[in-house]
Amino acid sequence: MPPTTDDHRLTALAEQSAALISSLQTPEGAYPASPTFSAYVGYSWFRDGAFIADGMSSWGEAASAEQFFDWCARVLEARSDHLERIVEAALAGRPVPDEAMLPTRFTFDGREGDDEWWDFQLDGYGTWLWAVGEHVGRHGADPSRWRTAVELSVDYLVSSWDRPCYDWWEEHPMHRHGSTLGCIVAGLRAALGLGVLDETRASAATAAAAAAEARLKGEAVSDGHLAKWIGSSEVDASLAAVVGLLNVVGAGTDIGRRTIDAVEDDLTKDGGVHRYLDDTFYGGGQWPLLSCMLGLAHARAGSTARARELLDWAASTAATDGSMPEQVDRHLLAPTRVDEWVDRWGSVAQPLLWSHAMLIRLVVELGLRPDADVRRATSDARA
Ligand code: BGC
Repeated sequence: MPPTTDDHRLTALAEQSAALISSLQTPEGAYPASPTFSAYVGYSWFRDGAFIADGMSSWGEAASAEQFFDWCARVLEARSDHLERIVEAALAGRPVPDEAMLPTRFTFDGREGDDEWWDFQLDGYGTWLWAVGEHVGRHGADPSRWRTAVELSVDYLVSSWDRPCYDWWEEHPMHRHGSTLGCIVAGLRAALGLGVLDETRASAATAAAAAAEARLKGEAVSDGHLAKWIGSSEVDASLAAVVGLLNVVGAGTDIGRRTIDAVEDDLTKDGGVHRYLDDTFYGGGQWPLLSCMLGLAHARAGSTARARELLDWAASTAATDGSMPEQVDRHLLAPTRVDEWVDRWGSVAQPLLWSHAMLIRLVVELGLRPDADVRRATSDARA
């Protein structure tokens, strides 16, 4: 079928998004979460960055994704002693306290920064491995340049995957979250697929991935769908990623389908997706990146029409200059809670690079980008 006018509008927005991300990637390779939002300025997250790198890689911007992986590798390698201490303490049965675990975000030059943050989150150490795996599978890049950092990440996750920690939304540190477990499984599987692990590490990674997967599918499930955390009956929209993009729970399986349905029923209004029902951050609005995550899950389940509606909704949040926000206030769960956040941090983050990346990724998934191979060749030539 020839592309419609709307398809052109979407591919143009995706193209503009890739250009924006490129223009904001730092010389060190880091992706800023948002260049202007007060609380995020100067920091790059492993979680956001991994999804941004995957979006860029899928768009043919191989060099950009690789520069981000190089940045992650430098951040990890600079902490190899610290990581070794964490792993040894865990093995000795005396795990270090949460404050001594690795942070979730770093300054562009690889420091931990001076600002307080809700730091101990494990998911990013899985998502960056997953993004490397996707990239290597897509572009045939040689993973050996990231081998040491992959090994360090695997050791970290193998030693600590079962610890409660802050979730994707940097909240509820007392729980084991479904999406965090999903990211860990995806990361360990990807690391194994790279073929760079020695036998001992590979068997430890296999065992940890299987144990984390068993926990996810056995304990982080309620009423047939993945649950926000072990023991919760709620769903969280981040779980759409575990079903769709990360492909830890197949979109066509019973749990996959029930998770998609639960996110649709409980958290979606029109095409806009809330993070979770009790969300009060900026009034608990709708996140375009989550519409895209849900769209990707639908696409993988074969519901391309619904995936397209969700993509259209996400695109509708772009401002006239094409910039996309973290969330919009078309439907708020807690309208009285907006002002406190505006007073604290200013208006909602915009642009948010992760939102742009997810739009790109869903555009690619839906095949709206027929010239992807050409772009890939260009990017490879530049790399
Ligand atoms: C979100 C995180 C995100 C960070 C940077 C926070 O508000 O909860 O998921 O990593 O912003 O974008």
